Amino acid sequence: MTASPVISPRTPTAPGALPLLGHAHRLARDPLPFITSLRRHGSVVRIRIGPTAAFVVTDPDLTRRVLVTEAAHFAKGGRIIDALRVFFGDGLATVADGDTHLRNRRLMQPMFNKAHIATRVDAMTDRIGSMVGAWPANERRDVFADMNDLALAAFLVALFGTDLPETLQAEFTALMPAVMKGTIRQTVLPGWATRLPLPANRAHAERVARLRTLIDLVIDHHDTAPTGASSTDAGTGQACPHAAPARAGLFTTLLTADRPLTRRQLQDEAITLLTGAIETTGTTLAWTLYEISRHPDIERRLRDEVATVCGDRPLRHLDLERLPYARQVLQEAIRAYGPAWMVTRTATRDVELGGHRIPEGADVVWSPYLHQHDPSYFPDPDVFDPDRWDPGRPQAARGAFLAFGDGRRKCIGENFAWSEMQIILATVLQHWPRIELVSRPPRPQAVVTVKPDSLTMTYGHGPDRS
Ligand code: HEM
Repeated sequence: MTASPVISPRTPTAPGALPLLGHAHRLARDPLPFITSLRRHGSVVRIRIGPTAAFVVTDPDLTRRVLVTEAAHFAKGGRIIDALRVFFGDGLATVADGDTHLRNRRLMQPMFNKAHIATRVDAMTDRIGSMVGAWPANERRDVFADMNDLALAAFLVALFGTDLPETLQAEFTALMPAVMKGTIRQTVLPGWATRLPLPANRAHAERVARLRTLIDLVIDHHDTAPTGASSTDAGTGQACPHAAPARAGLFTTLLTADRPLTRRQLQDEAITLLTGAIETTGTTLAWTLYEISRHPDIERRLRDEVATVCGDRPLRHLDLERLPYARQVLQEAIRAYGPAWMVTRTATRDVELGGHRIPEGADVVWSPYLHQHDPSYFPDPDVFDPDRWDPGRPQAARGAFLAFGDGRRKCIGENFAWSEMQIILATVLQHWPRIELVSRPPRPQAVVTVKPDSLTMTYGHGPDRS
């Protein structure tokens, strides 16, 4: 007989709650110090956001129970997901656990397999190369905006197809930053405030409606264009068994399923992927460039690796595996900056977690950022050290690296993200021998991701600003 777990009579509450607000002021004012400080109080800590209690899990082993072994008791949900659902509907990231999620995940999975992504590497490299090469030398540039634009371009090429009319691409690029800003606003304001007929709410609704129209135009474009040949593996020339026609990508997969998705469902899925894909990788790349600019030794090793593997020629998919240091640097940027810092679940019944009782219906919060700054797994967590990920080093920390989540709701885009980020990083380094920070060092700002509050750099051809 197994002994029943001892339930702690009182789960610790984080200090500093204010009447009415609870800990909302801490989450608004200094979210990252606040969330990492919770570890001091226990493995599960109660916080209050307004009148609502939430339980923050500070031990990565318990987070794995929430996400994997006891996922049935912790459903995808919570305030942020509810807010996203209002505009984005039931896309893969927001739809409730259950048959629809399983079916749509299975349907989309082949688009995100390594073999399929390999078929898109050349097209992504071409597009990124032409964008990065067009930056004027020595111009002050907003790195966060640039990296988000590159991430969006890579996504459009890889998933919406290589032959999108330029006007459509340009409109996506113009619209997405404003949609992301509006989305952040929706998730941080109380639900009733987002429903008021305010100009900002109306503008957000109009932009999301326009985004749906753009996605419809992409689908129509594929419907009317003649179908292309199946994609081939860029390195081997072999046809990829999972590949949709090179032009059509995601929509062909979803439209030719046994039970094809409706237009509304297609829009929901496309919007969900777009919003999940861009800022996560864009923000990681922005932090990576910042860290490179302040660590000449890291920059030198990276440049040497890229030069040895591809010299001046564009990167190809087989090169990706031969850039292990680039991957270590990107992984360290993800570890150090999150990029997700607050993810939620809802308890589907009264449940015991690490000796604490979580009541049915309560929000459970986990945070990649918090775990990735835990000094017992990552010594000197504030030090940027890509060598933590050297395969020769002890691997004890790996279990606490939860940046992509785990279990049935684990990030579907992980493989895609690694390829895309390696392509963008290598291409920027190849085109620009000199990268220089010209703004004050950025401060991490926790919104949907942990983004730099401001980050301006110049790119040049040599030390003499030529
Ligand atoms: C550095 C890059 C990325 C990071 C750190 C990241 C992180 C995450 C995390 C933590 C989750 C799980 C959320 C949860 O447990 O509730 C998730 C889910 C998801 N991500 Fe990513 N993501 C990244 C890139 C991408 C990309 C490039 C795409 C699409 C191309 C994408 C699409 C999604 C989708 C659709 C889900 C929902 C999966 C499901 O619920 O079945 N992500 N991501």
